[in-house]
Amino acid sequence: MTKRSVSRRLVICLASPKFSLNVLCLVVTVFVLLQIWSFHITQQPILLPHSLFTYLKQQQEEPERISETETACLVEKLRESVTFLPIKDLRFSNKPLVGHTWFMSSLYDNQTQGEVQYQEFPSESSKGRFLCLKGVDEHDGSWNYYALAWPQALPVNASLQKGLTFVSYNHYDYGNMWHGLSAMVPFIAWSLRNQCEKPQRWVLYHWGELRFGMGNWLSEIITATYGPKTEFLRFADENKPVCFEKAVVMRHNEGGMLRERRMEVFDLIRCKVRNYCNISLSKTSKPRIGMTMLMRSGPRSFKNESAVIDVFRRECKSVEGCELKVSYSNNLTFCEQVELMSMTDVLVSPHGAQLTNLVLMDRNSSVMEFFPKGWRKLAGVGQLVYQWGASWSGMRHEGSWHDPVGEICQFPDTDRRCMSVYKNAMIGYNETYFGEWARSVLGKFIRVKDVVERNQGYGVLDGCRC
Ligand SMILES: *[C@@H]1O[C@H](CO)[C@@H](O)[C@H](O)[C@H]1NC(C)=O
Ligand SMILES: *[C@@H]1O[C@H](CO)[C@@H](O)[C@H](O)[C@H]1NC(C)=O
Ligand SMILES: *[C@@H]1O[C@H](CO)[C@@H](O)[C@H](O)[C@H]1NC(C)=O
Ligand SMILES: *[C@@H]1O[C@H](CO)[C@@H](O)[C@H](O)[C@H]1NC(C)=O
Ligand SMILES: *[C@@H]1O[C@H](CO)[C@@H](O)[C@H](O)[C@H]1NC(C)=O
Ligand SMILES: *[C@@H]1O[C@H](CO)[C@@H](O)[C@H](O)[C@H]1NC(C)=O
Ligand SMILES: *[C@@H]1O[C@H](CO)[C@@H](O)[C@H](O)[C@H]1NC(C)=O
Repeated sequence: MTKRSVSRRLVICLASPKFSLNVLCLVVTVFVLLQIWSFHITQQPILLPHSLFTYLKQQQEEPERISETETACLVEKLRESVTFLPIKDLRFSNKPLVGHTWFMSSLYDNQTQGEVQYQEFPSESSKGRFLCLKGVDEHDGSWNYYALAWPQALPVNASLQKGLTFVSYNHYDYGNMWHGLSAMVPFIAWSLRNQCEKPQRWVLYHWGELRFGMGNWLSEIITATYGPKTEFLRFADENKPVCFEKAVVMRHNEGGMLRERRMEVFDLIRCKVRNYCNISLSKTSKPRIGMTMLMRSGPRSFKNESAVIDVFRRECKSVEGCELKVSYSNNLTFCEQVELMSMTDVLVSPHGAQLTNLVLMDRNSSVMEFFPKGWRKLAGVGQLVYQWGASWSGMRHEGSWHDPVGEICQFPDTDRRCMSVYKNAMIGYNETYFGEWARSVLGKFIRVKDVVERNQGYGVLDGCRC
């Protein structure tokens, strides 16, 4: 019934001759009109858009279902908004190692004075977000990426790696014993403060480029420290990000750590490798003073080995309880090196990676280092690494001998081009100097009553025992 038909009936009604009937008719019509009016008013909501009507109806019936859909929609938006940034930020290539560095440059480290500088994800500062990595580049770090994502909204195509992952940034390389070791030290320091927590895997970066392994000596140190199943992660697909349930990132090596903190790390490493190699001091009959000549063959070896050996043998013989061993680093297994170092109090060796073994001696042992001609002026601070290593691991670096004679370089001896001539040269000797030097170093051990006591530097830390 429309308004018009009602009005027409009203007109017809009023035209009727019977007034009483007319009055009745009028009342009925007014009533009907009112009815229609109120009907129109109650029908008003039905004129709302259909979707809104369904929404309201659904909300009345199932309030949870709709908020779920809405959440799912938001999560999808969060997932899409995860933004990957280049892991190597070229804007900072003029100061790659300063502050937040050029590696993951938007994030800041966590550091308490004197402790290791690190980042942990998820953490309060990451607002509970996981670290995600992407990219497979082995040659240019600016083609690898990082992002932070909430666990409920990991980026599209991402896979999740359970457990703890160590992410290492090393400005040098992982093959070299020394550089690899300094990349590893902060992780072990972190573990020492975190109930000895072990990583399930490592991700290695050099300048933001992926690396998939460490040198043999370093791998053995990791295995001895953390157990056998070390995995160096390889990302399978450049479009598939990998997120980590828990990640610890280091990009400053041991920078910022107090000497005491570094010594704790080496105390743990020393103890772990000796256990791993089944070396017990009671089993190995340690000499009162062990003097070891760790020789190289080829570059930076002694020109006249027998003459050098003779000098040290003579000096060792003249001290009661001193035993001299001569070994070649290139044909010792890892555990043979560990065993040799556990019996060494004075290490005599040319500058070179084999000297990294010095950290495996008992604390307060001595190191005597030898260089070919030209290194002092040209080799830069890199020639000091074993002095640093001795200091960090609680050893005594007894100085270096620089050969005054050697290869002839056509340029002045401060010209950098001469380094290629000197770098791999061989080392001569000075019988007088070596003899006096050896006497003075051995003299320190004569005064120490019980040399073997130096071994016990290691204490239990934070429930983390060797
Ligand atoms: C730094 O350490 C504090 C305290 O342990 C922690 O609350 C914070 O989330 C950490 N930040 C990072 C980036 O690891
Ligand atoms: C997810 O993976 C599929 C299949 O590999 C690929 O086609 C798609 O582009 C990926 N999506 C993103 C956002 O990377
Ligand atoms: C150490 O001893 C254990 C048990 O006797 C043995 O399984 C392991 O292979 C040994 N390790 C080395 C490096 O000799
Ligand atoms: C090495 O030094 C010894 C002792 O000074 C000397 O007799 C010998 O000839 C030298 N050998 C070489 C190859 O120079
Ligand atoms: C170790 O190497 C040195 C020189 O490189 C060699 O003279 C020696 O015979 C080797 N020892 C063994 C046990 O192979
Ligand atoms: C050898 O060392 C002694 C003692 O330091 C020094 O007096 C002498 O000049 C050195 N000889 C050479 C050839 O350098
Ligand atoms: C090492 O030597 C220093 C100083 O000579 C001494 O104070 C310290 O007790 C020694 N440490 C050990 C473990 O023998």
